Amino acid sequence: MAATLPIIDLQELQQSSSSSGKLREACEHWGCFRLINHGVPVSLMSEMKKVVGELFDLPIPVKRRNVDVLSGSGYIALSSMNPLYEAFGLYDIGSTAAVHEFCDQLGASPHHRETILKYAEATHGVAMTVAAKMAESSGVLASDGAGLFEDWACQFRINKYHFRPETVGSAGVQIHTDSGFLTVLQEDETVGGLEVMDPSDSGYIPVDPVPGTFLMNLGDLATVWSNGKLRNVKHRVECKEAAVRISIATFMLGPPRYTVVEPPAAFVDGGRPRLYRPISYEEFRVMRQITDKQAGEALELLQGPAQPLSTKFDVNSLPADVLAQIQDID
Ligand code: OGA
Ligand code: NI
Repeated sequence: MAATLPIIDLQELQQSSSSSGKLREACEHWGCFRLINHGVPVSLMSEMKKVVGELFDLPIPVKRRNVDVLSGSGYIALSSMNPLYEAFGLYDIGSTAAVHEFCDQLGASPHHRETILKYAEATHGVAMTVAAKMAESSGVLASDGAGLFEDWACQFRINKYHFRPETVGSAGVQIHTDSGFLTVLQEDETVGGLEVMDPSDSGYIPVDPVPGTFLMNLGDLATVWSNGKLRNVKHRVECKEAAVRISIATFMLGPPRYTVVEPPAAFVDGGRPRLYRPISYEEFRVMRQITDKQAGEALELLQGPAQPLSTKFDVNSLPADVLAQIQDID
């Protein structure tokens, strides 16, 4: 029988602690799960999908105005390297000013703006709530976890896959893990293609879209934060049919600028010493980019004695232009 993804009911999780074990198991074994009863109105999800579809129809020079502070996080045009994939990006949706700036860049109408603001607030809230529940279900004490994720940065990436008859069978996005802590993904409600790694046999299983729900993915930073307990799920997008596919991802990345990620006490003890050296999200992201280790292998570079700090990677040794980019993040 084909494996099926765990389903987590957020309302149930908030009302009783009985499903807490199910959440922990999903995060440790799968590194992903489908989230239902999350409180974001289906009407807002479908309106957002319509709005972003309209943004992709803007003239290319307007789309190019979506520039952003993180490298690769603004507009990504179709290219000969990647003729299927186009995207908008925004960092950080926790900042209302940044969301307004994104709307200004694209000359969004008042309706577009209102929808984007509402959606950003809603998915930001989902990420924060689920992250807090993940901490709780892993035994992170309230005193350790209170306000733990409050100021963590969240990035939007809005993806459009231009699948055509001749691209059926090819990859839309290669196998990767997400670099951050937790991803809230609104998949296209009709066009599938996303596949996640089945931990029991390392094969990939198709994730069929379920309208009105989110697919939640844990990324590399969740593994660092949990001292290796929570799984960073590998996934990819395959072109299965000749149709446009739009997905909207909210990535909860990590603690703000240069704050290093340290596992809470619940994840570290004598029998389970520290696996990774402390690192900030920005440093880790650049390290992934320059080493081109996009499928979780970058974590190996963080292994080694925590004290003194390993010198396997020294951010100051980066080329000046890369350094300038990460230092530009605000
Ligand atoms: C991503 C991703 C999946 C999708 O943007 O990291 O995995 O369905 N997207 O578009
Ligand atoms: Ni991804």
